[in-house]
Amino acid sequence: MRRTIDWVDGAVEIIDQVALPGEYRTLRLASVDELIDAIRRLAVRGAPALGGAGALGTALAAFAHDDPDAVRADAARLADARPTAVNLSWGVARALARLGEGPDAVLAEALALLDEDERLNHDASARAAELILGICARRPLRLLTHCNAGRLATVGWGTALGVVWHLHAAGHVEYVLADETRPLLQGARLTAWELAAAGVPHRVLPDSAAAAAMARGMVDCVVVGADRIAVNGDVANKIGTYGLALAAARHELPFVVVAPSSTVDPELPSGESIVIEERAAEELTTFSGIPVAPPGTPVFNPAFDVTPADLVTAVVTEKGPLGR
Ligand code: MRU
Repeated sequence: MRRTIDWVDGAVEIIDQVALPGEYRTLRLASVDELIDAIRRLAVRGAPALGGAGALGTALAAFAHDDPDAVRADAARLADARPTAVNLSWGVARALARLGEGPDAVLAEALALLDEDERLNHDASARAAELILGICARRPLRLLTHCNAGRLATVGWGTALGVVWHLHAAGHVEYVLADETRPLLQGARLTAWELAAAGVPHRVLPDSAAAAAMARGMVDCVVVGADRIAVNGDVANKIGTYGLALAAARHELPFVVVAPSSTVDPELPSGESIVIEERAAEELTTFSGIPVAPPGTPVFNPAFDVTPADLVTAVVTEKGPLGR
């Protein structure tokens, strides 16, 4: 299967996630400005995929400028394109560290990061699958997920959906419930698309139905990805994740977070200081361009929330459960 983001003939190529599920197409991004625009529009999104975007974008900058300061200025703009997922600035910093060796070395580092992302997410999700099989008695499993933490959110495998791929291959999945994930519908548009393509039984539900599904005994485990994880295990992820964790705790269901270790921010003791991206009012006041609220309605539209560590059963990276 094609990678979500790659380097093709001197430019960054992405699967256009804004066009899905209506159209499967790629976009060629030949400049840092084009890439920043794609990141802001969520044409490329998901923390690990943003790590790849940061690294490949830095390679674009390194080939575009002879002056190292100009490369660094582009790299800084890239790292700031979205604030919450730590992988973006991590990818930029990792590629930029090779600038002294020339643009080919920057690109080589970015390509190594892409390979690594696939491998580490494969391993992290295998470890999480093993953990879930250990703590959930029921077979086959009924899983609930939020947003899109699949192939499209990473370079090519997935984190929370990576768990589904492992469990499904072993015959352990009855179905996946995919929260639609308001307001941009990454669950309905992207997760449902990936689950259908992989032949995994699934249903999309409104975010507001997730607690009711738990109350009705339809869920064995909640499994989600992450955008930034603090050292104490607090987790920033798509808005609505915190509510899911509260509901899971009320119903005594495991709440498992899966991410590559690049999503753990070693500088961050707790989730309190994570910068939460606020997005445009139009994402809420319009739907497919049609107004659904009076013009000028003020909104609260944070893209992420922080789930405190005590509500998380385990954060699993390629190294295994965090803190154990
Ligand atoms: O705004 P998005 O679509 O970039 O948000 C993505 C998420 O919140 C994902 O759950 C997270 O990045 C984990 S992806 C493996």
